[in-house]
Amino acid sequence: MSEHVTVIESVKLDDANDAIILLDQTQLPNKKEFLHLKTVDDVWDAIYQLKVRGAPAIGIAAAYGIYIVTKNSKATSFDAFYQEFKTAKEKLASSRPTAVNLFWALDRMEARLQNEQTGTITEIKNALREEADLIKKEDQKVCEAIGYHALEVLEPGWGILTHCNAGTIATAKYGTALAPIYLGQERGYDFKVYADETRPLLQGARLTAWELNEAGVDVTLICDNMASIVMSQDKVQAVLVGCDRVAANGDAANKIGTSGVAILAKHYGIPFYVCAPMSTIDLNTETGSDIEIELRSEEEIKTKWYSEPMAPADIKTYNPAFDVTDHSLITGIITEKGIVSPSYKENLTKIFE
Ligand code: MRU
Repeated sequence: MSEHVTVIESVKLDDANDAIILLDQTQLPNKKEFLHLKTVDDVWDAIYQLKVRGAPAIGIAAAYGIYIVTKNSKATSFDAFYQEFKTAKEKLASSRPTAVNLFWALDRMEARLQNEQTGTITEIKNALREEADLIKKEDQKVCEAIGYHALEVLEPGWGILTHCNAGTIATAKYGTALAPIYLGQERGYDFKVYADETRPLLQGARLTAWELNEAGVDVTLICDNMASIVMSQDKVQAVLVGCDRVAANGDAANKIGTSGVAILAKHYGIPFYVCAPMSTIDLNTETGSDIEIELRSEEEIKTKWYSEPMAPADIKTYNPAFDVTDHSLITGIITEKGIVSPSYKENLTKIFE
């Protein structure tokens, strides 16, 4: 699989210039602007502002971020270097709370650092770069495998509804929920994709519609409140979404609005699949109610993306960025190791064995 995927690397290392090169996703689809991030504050800000977004891409940016920041360390002892690493890790971990990939990637970088503690500081820095590269490379393979497994349950010509953006720019490549679309495109499956616009930050309209359109996929943009009519008209045979964290019981946190789509899918008898790399499955979180849901600013609802205010300036808002889809609404969780079916409590544990 390759030629149908828009080959835009959303996160890249520029080691010679001590920087991460990042596609600024807040500028899409109007501008392809690349940022050069050098400091821990640059990386924190890029994650917080959703310049890089999507659970796997956030993890990759954090891994490269901590490498770049500690690469410039002047520490001469392991303890001093480790202290600087921990300070940077703590800062980056505070950028967004819901996607577990952020914490997973930072923990993995820390484990690598601990394994290298008998080496010189230069050797440790090289090992950190290697680990960040691995996290990115593995994610490509993982996404491709998710795509292949997802195709097992999809048929040519189907209408597929997706929410938010779980595509190539949200990962190292291919995406999770969009990977089977690209793979199907290559095989002439002729999927018809319905992309929910995904209020308030419009990841569906700005990102999913854009990247699928660039790849020549048949994609139709709908407003979030149109999913029901589209489903009722037999236009959708499956729903595929990405996710930010799967709890041990199969509850899955994803972009706000996802649980509503799942409830609609159940009503219309449409299979609802969550595409999740193993790095998104968090067996330490028991259920969805233990997942911290990020709350974001009121301006995202009231003014952002619009030339005129969209609501009274003094109106109260509530802006949760994610919601949790109850495991009972999920037909299957599609991972790189295959499709996990209910009962999730048993079967999610099994795939880690
Ligand atoms: O707030 P965002 O844009 O980072 O939310 C992203 C999502 O909800 C995605 O569906 C999820 O991270 C999976 S990306 C493969």
